[in-house]
Formats: sequence, structure tokens, C-alpha cells
Amino acid sequence: MPYPEQLRLLVEQELQRMAFSREPATARLVEAMRYSLLAGGKRIRPVLALATARAIGRDEHHLLPLAAGIELIHTYSLIHDDLPAMDDDAMRRGRPTAHVAYGEDVAILAGDALYAEAFHHVLAHQRGEPRAILDALAELAAATGVEGMVGGQFIDVSATPQTADELRRLHELKTGRLIGASVECVLLIAGMTQPETSEFCAFASELGVLFQIVDDILDVTGTDVALGKPQGSDERHGKRTYVSEFGLDGARELAISSHRQARTSLAAAAPAGAPELEQITDFIATRSS
Ligand code: IPE
Ligand code: IPE
Ligand code: MG
Ligand code: MG
Ligand code: MG
Repeated sequence: MPYPEQLRLLVEQELQRMAFSREPATARLVEAMRYSLLAGGKRIRPVLALATARAIGRDEHHLLPLAAGIELIHTYSLIHDDLPAMDDDAMRRGRPTAHVAYGEDVAILAGDALYAEAFHHVLAHQRGEPRAILDALAELAAATGVEGMVGGQFIDVSATPQTADELRRLHELKTGRLIGASVECVLLIAGMTQPETSEFCAFASELGVLFQIVDDILDVTGTDVALGKPQGSDERHGKRTYVSEFGLDGARELAISSHRQARTSLAAAAPAGAPELEQITDFIATRSS
């Protein structure tokens, strides 16, 4: 499936440039941050942000600080997700996880620092109307807080969803909100508000759920090498997922209908077409890594 490679390269270059500090005393912390950050993830969230910029007729280069900030936050979430107290996984992005390579103490701090440096980077470098940037950062913070990613991670480690609706809610929070914010923050920086943004938001929210349904399927059907992370992690931890709930075929059917719904919402949001967003949507549905 084609992927907006040119946008991915822009993100990669922006991330490579981030040095964080030249202070010798914290060099190993920075090394750990860059170890996880530059290990070659798919960059779906920042690419989604840049693709959204294109879809609304903005120069994608202008949104690079925001896009990089989002990837820093995502990388922090992966480092903490893999910790022994969480999913206890030893491989990520094809490398030993941060706590395996640097120790748990440094991995926790590398995650903490990536979160703070994300906001620092956007606040220091993102150009635009100050009010619009504040609105975008408020959304990004909310999407990663208690009513977003971390709240979702909490439910994931502490409660077993009992119904299909609860499972969908868990996915919306732990994965969907940050993916949604990757679209929504760009619209906010562009000064767009409701109801102008509602079709895009519906698209982004469905895309987030689709992403996690496919992640659950790949946890069963993927390989360590293709995924760059251990296959079977969910089953080892007795996680309730779309596959445990609906079976593999059921989860695949739900992914197909979620993909169809996301494409329908996207067509309504961008009636003249949005090639990069269409590519990402198809990629997320059919990916094998
Ligand atoms: C994995 O995200 C974590 C989830 C939210 C399911 P990705 O599959 O986007 O991971 P990378 O960034 O490509 O490594
Ligand atoms: C993690 O979900 C979502 C995050 C917020 C990091 P998973 O635990 O399913 O992610 P993977 O499968 O380890 O990448
Ligand atoms: Mg997890
Ligand atoms: Mg995990
Ligand atoms: Mg998973």
C-alpha cells in the first residue's frame, strides 16, 4: 500500500535535528531519548498531521514543529507502555526496548523528558496565531491526559472491558485520541473551528479506532520481525482485545467496516479529495507492521 513517503522523510529530518541538550551530565538521558525516537517507527501520527495540512491547502513544512511534538509524545507512550510494570515487552521498533538497553530508571526519565520536550518544541518553534496555537496545545494535552491516552492506558491495565462499547471506549482513549489530535491540532492552528472541523474530527476518531483494531489483529497474526515488537503480547497478559472479543474473522470484519466508515467521513471532510489522507487510511487498514 503506498504511503506518503515524502511527508515521512520530512518528519524524519525534523526529528534527527532535535538535540535536546549539549550538557555532558545528561548526555546518556538524551542518548536514550534519541535511541527510542530514531529507531524508525512508521511516523503515522506526524505524517497524518502533515497530510491534514495538505488537505486544507496549507504548506506542510509550516506544521513540522507540531508534527515532531506529536511523535515525541507517541514515543514516550511506547517507552512507558513496554516497562516491566506495564506490558513488560523486550523489543520495540526492532530494537531492545529502552529499559532493556538503558535500565528502567533511565527509560522512565526518557519518557518523562520526551513528553516535556514535546510541548517545549511546539511552544518554541510552531508559528501561527498565538490563540490558535494555545487551542491546539490544549487539545494535545487533553488528548494525552486522563480523558485521553493515559486514561486509556489506565483502563487497559486496571479493568477488563465487559462490553463491546467499553472496548471501543478503551481504544478511543488509549490510541484514538492522539491520532485524532494529529488531525485536529492542525485544523486548530489553521484557525478552523466547529462545525467546519466536524467531518474531519469524525474521520480522525474512526481512524484511531481502526488503527487499534488492526493493532489487536497484528498482535495475533504478525511476526516479531515484521512488527518490530513481540507478537502475542496481548494474549500473554490476558488483555481483552477486538480479537479476544470477536474472534479473528469478527475483528477483520469490524476493521473493514471501520475502514469504510473512515473513508466515508474523509470524503465528506474533503470533497475535492485528499490523496495523502486517503493513502494513510488505506495503509492503516492493510498494514502488516
Ligand atoms: C504502536 O503504535 C502503539 C499503539 C498505539 C498501538 P505504532 O504502530 O504507530 O508504532 P510505531 O510508531 O510505528 O513504532
Ligand atoms: C499501547 O497499546 C497504546 C499506547 C498508548 C502506547 P498496546 O500495548 O497495544 O501497544 P503495542 O502493541 O505494545 O505497540
Ligand atoms: Mg499496552
Ligand atoms: Mg504494549
Ligand atoms: Mg498492541
